[in-house]
Amino acid sequence: MAKRLFPLSKVYGLLEPGPVVMVTTAWEGKSNIMTMSWHTMMEFEPPIVGCVISNRNYSFEILKSTKECVINIPTLELAGKAVACGNTSGRRVDKFEAFGLTPEPASTVSAPLIAECYANLECRVTDARLVARYNFFILEVLKAWIEPSIKDPRTIHHRGKGAFMVAGETIKLRSKMK
Ligand SMILES: Cc1cc2nc3c(=O)[nH]c(=O)nc-3n(C[C@H](O)[C@H](O)[C@H](O)COP(=O)(O)O)c2cc1C
Repeated sequence: MAKRLFPLSKVYGLLEPGPVVMVTTAWEGKSNIMTMSWHTMMEFEPPIVGCVISNRNYSFEILKSTKECVINIPTLELAGKAVACGNTSGRRVDKFEAFGLTPEPASTVSAPLIAECYANLECRVTDARLVARYNFFILEVLKAWIEPSIKDPRTIHHRGKGAFMVAGETIKLRSKMK
């Protein structure tokens, strides 16, 4: 294989870990949605998730003060709405209203679930020590919801610059991991 140099600015697109998700937060009775792909699993159980939320985003302010959010996982059908939520700010737009998404009450946090997403993870910030330096929030998943009829979710995975890879096929191999 004749490899060529790859720009450092594009490396994240090779390592982009899990699916694009939509993070909901709530503040003074109003809810917001932010699209996010910079997240990583850190522990199996209780599930711990690390994520980068830029301090330029409205969601950063809300998450920093309320310490609660929901990670909602969309499938391909919601890709357009996920990108729209990632290109507008909740400072100016009610994204539930603008993009026709349905908020549903969560059971442990004040942020709502997005009904149209196939999975929803209710989270609380468990460690904020890396927020000031890296905008890195460490979340504990308190409760998780899943749509049982979807066996092979067609999640979307950001490859950078508006390109997405679509998942959907599950293969099973022996593994020592859970
Ligand atoms: C596919 C995609 C992935 C994104 N991933 C992140 C991310 O991981 N972290 C982040 O801070 N912003 C990310 N963004 C940008 C935010 O979603 C965007 O700044 C949004 O407008 C913030 O909304 P808010 O101001 O209402 O919080 C992403 C946007 C898109 C379209």
